[in-house]
Amino acid sequence: MRRIKDPAIMQRLALRWRSRGVRIGFVPTMGYLHAGHLSLVARARQAVGSRGRVVVSIYVNPTQFGPAEDLSRYPRDPKRDLALCRDAGTDVVFMPEDATMYSGRETGRYSTYVVEESLTRSMEGVTRPTHFRGVTTIVAKLFNLVQPNVAVFGEKDWQQATVVGRMVQDLNIPLQLVVAPTVREPDGLAMSSRNKYLDPVRRAQAVVLWRSLNHVRSRVGSSRSGRVSSAVLTREVASMISKEPDARMDYVEFFEPSTLAPQPWVMRGTRMALAVLVGPTRLIDNGLI
Ligand code: PAJ
Repeated sequence: MRRIKDPAIMQRLALRWRSRGVRIGFVPTMGYLHAGHLSLVARARQAVGSRGRVVVSIYVNPTQFGPAEDLSRYPRDPKRDLALCRDAGTDVVFMPEDATMYSGRETGRYSTYVVEESLTRSMEGVTRPTHFRGVTTIVAKLFNLVQPNVAVFGEKDWQQATVVGRMVQDLNIPLQLVVAPTVREPDGLAMSSRNKYLDPVRRAQAVVLWRSLNHVRSRVGSSRSGRVSSAVLTREVASMISKEPDARMDYVEFFEPSTLAPQPWVMRGTRMALAVLVGPTRLIDNGLI
């Protein structure tokens, strides 16, 4: 396994592979890797085969964090990440630095961003207004550096995967996007680097996101008409969350999976997403109803 810091070296290697017909599978991450990330690496390997190359990027992208967010304390453990990547069969770990990815950002000499203007208006985009601009910008840059044939994203961040899919389509980026299932802890909590912030008491309360999803699934599954009003379900989920002493609901939304359009009625095929603060830690989850 090779470790590359310099974006120019990464791009040169990727272009050399592509010119020889070698397929490239790519998994962008912010590190502090867990089994969810590693499942994407396995999916990328499956997509490109044993003769292809799998690249994992590890970069805590500053432009997707708001001023009051956790950029400076975002968990990092590069040594462990590298070992996990090696064990997962990664060919290259690309670990760039702010100085090369956003050279001149402090002095106004970095001034180009990629903005998706529709799908980013709801959910995460409301609470985190500059977040997706940072995501689409860094993902577009990483695509240019890694030149992937296939890029793998997690269903865990459904809105992100949808926004990236729209960017790929709108900007004619020549790659295939794969969205891989959410990997969960045994009690249902979606794996996330941010779960590290939770003390045992809050860790137990965090399962309310998973319980909320299942509550809605069983309400819709057992309703005679096969549909339940979003307003009713929103109240029920809010009430479940309010019973957890340290939990506060940010949003719950029921939407059409590909357009993210809010739905007044929830039925099979509707998607649900929610964001909950557990103490100071903001957790998200989503699933198909
Ligand atoms: P990060 O949060 O590190 O996640 C990297 C990828 O792993 C994303 O595609 C995310 O959806 C996926 N992922 C996270 N938890 C998962 C889980 N429990 N099961 C399956 N997949 C999971 O998302 C980002 O980083 C950044 O925004 C990034 C795309 C790298 C741009 O900076």
